[in-house]
Amino acid sequence: MKVLISLALVVLIAAPAFAEEPPPAAPPQEMSTQDARKLFAASCSWCHGMFGMKAGKGGPKLAGTTLEETAVYTTIVKGRGSMPSFKNTLTDDEIKALAKYIKALPNE
Ligand code: HEC
Repeated sequence: MKVLISLALVVLIAAPAFAEEPPPAAPPQEMSTQDARKLFAASCSWCHGMFGMKAGKGGPKLAGTTLEETAVYTTIVKGRGSMPSFKNTLTDDEIKALAKYIKALPNE
């Protein structure tokens, strides 16, 4: 019995050492313009044409928008009119990258 108890104790004391360390969280990484462009093509281009450079089916041209970057961000999060909200489909970082991408489009 004594042996069993000390065995159990050894297991109890040693167990945490075997617990797997969670992998360190990946450092926050900014999306590249290239990634934002791809994301735009996948999520937005069917309404906002030509990567935001032209009005598309239903959505206005985004290049040269008079909205501030924060307002662009809010529009994507909340949606507006027939534009859906993207807060459940895109991450916050993705939405930020898209807002930045849109504000960086050349206004031609
Ligand atoms: C279903 C079509 C549709 C999709 C998909 C869509 N939009 Fe829109 N978007 C619209 C419409 C329509 C408006 C104009 C809304 C209004 O003012 O009534 C708009 C407006 C905007 C505006 C405001 C422009 C301005 O100058 O006022 C921004 C910014 C925008 N969209 C970004 C995006 C982004 C980024 C995506 C992809 C994540 C996206 N949209 C996806 C239809 C869409």
